[in-house]
Amino acid sequence: MFLKHFVFLFVTAAGGVWSLRNLSISVPRAVLSGEGQSAILRCSYDLEGAALYSIRWYRAENEFYRFVPRELPPTMVFPLPGASVDLVQSDQHQVRIVNMNRRLSGDYQCEVSADAPLFHTDIRSAPLTVVDPPFRAPHITISQTRYARGDAIRANCSVDEAYPAPNITWILDDHKIAETISWRSSELDFKERAAFSQLEISIVEMEQYKMGITYTSSSLNKVYHDHYVYDRDADKEDGELLRYTLTPPPTSQFTLSCVATIYDIYARKSEPVFIKEDTPQPASVTGEDSSAPVLSGLEWITFLCECHNLGESCQIRYISS
Ligand SMILES: *[C@@H]1O[C@H](CO)[C@@H](O)[C@H](O)[C@H]1NC(C)=O
Ligand SMILES: *[C@@H]1O[C@H](CO)[C@@H](O)[C@H](O)[C@H]1NC(C)=O
Ligand SMILES: *[C@@H]1O[C@H](CO)[C@@H](O)[C@H](O)[C@H]1NC(C)=O
Repeated sequence: MFLKHFVFLFVTAAGGVWSLRNLSISVPRAVLSGEGQSAILRCSYDLEGAALYSIRWYRAENEFYRFVPRELPPTMVFPLPGASVDLVQSDQHQVRIVNMNRRLSGDYQCEVSADAPLFHTDIRSAPLTVVDPPFRAPHITISQTRYARGDAIRANCSVDEAYPAPNITWILDDHKIAETISWRSSELDFKERAAFSQLEISIVEMEQYKMGITYTSSSLNKVYHDHYVYDRDADKEDGELLRYTLTPPPTSQFTLSCVATIYDIYARKSEPVFIKEDTPQPASVTGEDSSAPVLSGLEWITFLCECHNLGESCQIRYISS
């Protein structure tokens, strides 16, 4: 009883002079794994004139670095599996970890203690994910590269295994149109996972589009964000199908690509897919004789590809659209 009282009075009398204030932790949300990769974790605090007794760093409750100025040497390091602490760049304000691997993902904590007599102690925590990015760029497969009005084009974007599974964003002519978020299944599961997104683009005339939007939003109660329907179909095994409605672009073509992202440290774009309106063959214009056919850019690409495949025996011929 007496002791409790005493401590209470003492703290009051101290009036914050020996207290620890404004403790904050600063940890990158994500870093890349691998040799030569490192992470600097910082801890800032205000001891208000008191001396520092110790600073300790933990990963998932296991202490891996301790700095106690009164001891000689002041530093103690406990092994982190696979990685090491760079002692030159670690002190009472920060710790630098080198050669991170994804199993070191998790919550990092910084604990600061002021010196005697109060040993006021506080702790802060922040998550860090060590990223193993996908090996290759994301890849698109598409049901068709020619469209007629009224068509629904299906496209898949797939990404190789990575940790954590990347998010996938669809880009139509430089505009983001839809996104698939990859949810983490478990905190302690360090498995690499592939990511996948399915998109359906319906190409409809302006009038149908207006009718469609009125019909869909009022009767089906789905959320529309600027042409974009987020359609979670629980019955489907292969996850959700993203839907996007497009009015025919004036240029009669558009490009589609997808981007895989992992936090703010990894982003890679697929090769773009060119999709073109399947216009009827134009009637022959002038005289039937020698004039060479005029090829548009896309047809030239097709033409060159075919030539390349044929190699030496490449013949000059017009590839009809
Ligand atoms: C530190 O904490 C005090 C209150 O304890 C607050 O008034 C002050 O703004 C904080 N300073 C910083 C730099 O966060
Ligand atoms: C997309 O993936 C689904 C599921 O694997 C498959 O059934 C479909 O044929 C694919 N579509 C395209 C255009 O690749
Ligand atoms: C995916 O996106 C969600 C929502 O923006 C975000 O909270 C999450 O951190 C992202 N995941 C990755 C791996 O980037």
